[in-house]
Amino acid sequence: MYSIGTILLYALAAEIFRRCCLILLAAFTGPLSKIPGPMIGKFTSWPWLIQCVKGNQMNIGPGLFQKYGDVVRVGPADIMFRDKATITKILIDEDFRKSHDYETVREDPNVASLITETDKVKYKQKRRLLSPGFSIGYLNGLEPLMHECLQVFKKVLDGRCRDAGGYAVIDMNRMLGNLTSDVMSAASFGGSFNLVESDDNTQKNIFNSYLRRVALDAQFPLLRHLPGVPSASSMISGLVERIVSKRRQEMEKGVMKKDILQIFVDTHNADPISFTDKHIRNEMILFMIAGSDTTSLTAAFTLLLLLNNPDKLKELTSEIDSTFPSLEDNVTFAKTQDLPYLNAAINESMRLMPIITGGIVRLVPETTILCGYEVPKDTIVSAWVSEMQRDPRIWPDPDSFIPERWLGDYKGVPADRKAFMPFSAGSRNCIGQQFALKELRLILVTLIRRYELSLVEGQSHELRVHTVPWFKQGFYNVGVKLRS
Ligand code: HEM
Ligand SMILES: *[C@@H]1O[C@H](CO)[C@@H](O)[C@H](O)[C@H]1NC(C)=O
Ligand SMILES: *[C@@H]1O[C@H](CO)[C@@H](O)[C@H](O)[C@H]1NC(C)=O
Ligand SMILES: *[C@@H]1O[C@H](CO)[C@@H](O)[C@H](O)[C@H]1NC(C)=O
Repeated sequence: MYSIGTILLYALAAEIFRRCCLILLAAFTGPLSKIPGPMIGKFTSWPWLIQCVKGNQMNIGPGLFQKYGDVVRVGPADIMFRDKATITKILIDEDFRKSHDYETVREDPNVASLITETDKVKYKQKRRLLSPGFSIGYLNGLEPLMHECLQVFKKVLDGRCRDAGGYAVIDMNRMLGNLTSDVMSAASFGGSFNLVESDDNTQKNIFNSYLRRVALDAQFPLLRHLPGVPSASSMISGLVERIVSKRRQEMEKGVMKKDILQIFVDTHNADPISFTDKHIRNEMILFMIAGSDTTSLTAAFTLLLLLNNPDKLKELTSEIDSTFPSLEDNVTFAKTQDLPYLNAAINESMRLMPIITGGIVRLVPETTILCGYEVPKDTIVSAWVSEMQRDPRIWPDPDSFIPERWLGDYKGVPADRKAFMPFSAGSRNCIGQQFALKELRLILVTLIRRYELSLVEGQSHELRVHTVPWFKQGFYNVGVKLRS
């Protein structure tokens, strides 16, 4: 007779054996086994996930492509791609649904926001609901709000220069981060956080630490259930609740606003059961994150590239000076919309230093041929837009900052606009892209017209990524002086 203990032991051993067989089977047989990649990736995604936690995938990924080619297997069911045809197929033609990674960043697994919605039908309804908040008419109405935030920005920069005896060294990464948070809160939530002017950085820090936690939670869902670890959303919900209750008070007094927050509150009032307070909170948090650091980093990266390519900065400065001959000229949407060199510089910056630095992750709904390989249902595929945008088969001198390539042929090759997706592509592209471009143009023109910007030597450009990139050194300094 076997004892219960022995039977359990045998059962356990059998189960371990069965799992090992399955892992081996998946590693060496089946369609994905033909895809090149590091040996460990055949068995487990762990080493790759650890790079994600370190914020280092963007630095490791390019090397993997270099070593293995256009397709790399980094986990048993985790494949990355960089070629234009496959990326177009994943994001646009097949328009695969978002992978479950997006669900793990939800505060409550049943409460999806626009960004984290993975169901295609529900997503369509959500996006339609929000589209009035991004119409041309609505965006143009935001001009005075953005203008006000920029006035404060100028005032603060002027003061910093004055205090420093004319020439100040400014951490532009932070200043711009404060500015775009102010713009986002003013435009979407009915009031600027006023981070640029105040010294109070608690709100900004709340969002920053939230970002890192979100990235961690996505990879380690268990983390959320550990006792004593505050959830990502508890860190932020107090702030959001204050904003919503202020809006409700204003509505009671009959004050009407027409912004993104109002769309959320109205949706809630029309159907409080399916669009709860939690939904409002989630949408706001994700909008704040999607809209501020993305834009400020793009502005900071553009400045970085211009300062390191002084002839390009000179070219842009002369375009801006001839459009705004006087320092008093009002920098408006209309006058910054069609400046060719400015737009070319922004595009070139987003090509070379995009905000989405790793793969855009999607889930394969049924077996599909991608880049010549059969990829089965439920495989996670990532579209490395950043690598496509540096593909030497598409872009001559891919690692150089050459705005001119957007203005005509460069080395006989016109810019391939279909291989340029800084705002992603397909149904899940960035809803805020026109908002961002309008804001970016105002910021860059204001800075370049008003100040003499100079390179502060010896800074590291090394980046890490948690949801969005950040400078490893923690800042990006720029020399700033009022122009005469
Ligand atoms: C230069 C600045 C920006 C860049 C580079 C950028 C980039 C992107 C990218 C690549 C995505 C797709 C993400 C994915 O597939 O997971 C995205 C989505 C999104 N962005 Fe932006 N974005 C920027 C500014 C903004 C702004 C200003 C807003 C809001 C006003 C915004 C709101 C959103 C939202 C709500 C989504 C989710 C869309 C959806 O799933 O339907 N973004 N953005
Ligand atoms: C400049 O333009 C902004 C945005 O349209 C407007 O709010 C502001 O009043 C204008 N200022 C001047 C001095 O014309
Ligand atoms: C902007 O943010 C930084 C740090 O994030 C903070 O120290 C500063 O006071 C804020 N405002 C200004 C004007 O820089
Ligand atoms: C920048 O890229 C966008 C999107 O591809 C394109 O429509 C626009 O023409 C480009 N701008 C310039 C100046 O080439």
